[in-house]
Amino acid sequence: MAKQNTKRKVEIEVVRPDLKVASVPKTKPYSDIDLNHWKDYDHIKTDTWWEFASRDKSNGHSNEYHGNYIPQIATQFFERFTKKNDIVLDLFLGSGTSAIEALHMGRRCIGVELKEDLAQHVSEKFTQKDLVTKVNIITGDSTSEKTKEKVEARLEIMGEEKAQFLVLHPPYDTIIRFSDRKEDLSNCETPEKFYDMFEKVAKNGYDLLEQGRYAVLIIGDEYKNSEIVPLSSECMFRMMKLGFKLKATIVKNIEGNERAKGKRKNLWRYRALNGGFYIFQHEYIYLFQKVKQKKPKK
Ligand SMILES: C[S@@+](CC[C@H](N)C(=O)[O-])C[C@H]1O[C@@H](n2cnc3c(N)ncnc32)[C@H](O)[C@@H]1O
Repeated sequence: MAKQNTKRKVEIEVVRPDLKVASVPKTKPYSDIDLNHWKDYDHIKTDTWWEFASRDKSNGHSNEYHGNYIPQIATQFFERFTKKNDIVLDLFLGSGTSAIEALHMGRRCIGVELKEDLAQHVSEKFTQKDLVTKVNIITGDSTSEKTKEKVEARLEIMGEEKAQFLVLHPPYDTIIRFSDRKEDLSNCETPEKFYDMFEKVAKNGYDLLEQGRYAVLIIGDEYKNSEIVPLSSECMFRMMKLGFKLKATIVKNIEGNERAKGKRKNLWRYRALNGGFYIFQHEYIYLFQKVKQKKPKK
């Protein structure tokens, strides 16, 4: 059908070059980007080094929550890997960056956050009408089966069986302690426990995501007891083990994002020279796709 249309368009253009024919948009099943006009999408990133001059503070975004992610990450992925009205599922909602950006871009969102007061605070950022039709905020522990069932119930209310995009921005182990609750991933006694809890969340995310759709993991590494704890690689491998197909490893510059370190740059430089380590200036963003599992060969 698309081929016929293109042929007809070419024929008309040859006979009547003055006549402008609207072309049939060429899109992927997971995106509204019209590939016929790919040159119009200069703002969409296609390489693996991401640097943003400053944090977007428009459209309801603020930098009120220590540990939130820069909204431009959401903007990039939602435009490239979701369609209008799709549901973005964020299992570590925090201050609601994903929800704010999803609504701003005409998408919907379901978010889960462990801290009740924070979930309540985020809910207050939306109108009552939006809270019924476009955004659903659940207070809960994303590692649990019960939370998964709650998300399924919300999906049903919103007329969907599965979510169309998954955001995972977990605590970076103990770097920022978000609460003292035992269910909190920032409260694990060892990195191994952190990985196991993360895997449970990722498994729930996998089950709740539609086949063929994309997921993103945003995470940095930790420097503890004079060595690197490779949180990012281990979480990435755990997701691959669950069946997610790795599509991209993006390095994002965090210079200037780190509130504490920014102000004491020289002290950290001295510590690095003295301690034989390098100061983190980046974090990782991994992009995955949920694809049909291949049957093991007999
Ligand atoms: C890195 S922050 C996410 C920030 C968020 N992306 C934003 O832009 O505001 C991680 C969040 O996960 C929450 N969290 C920790 N353990 C959790 C769990 N088991 N279930 C749900 N949320 C959890 C923390 O309270 C924290 O708000």
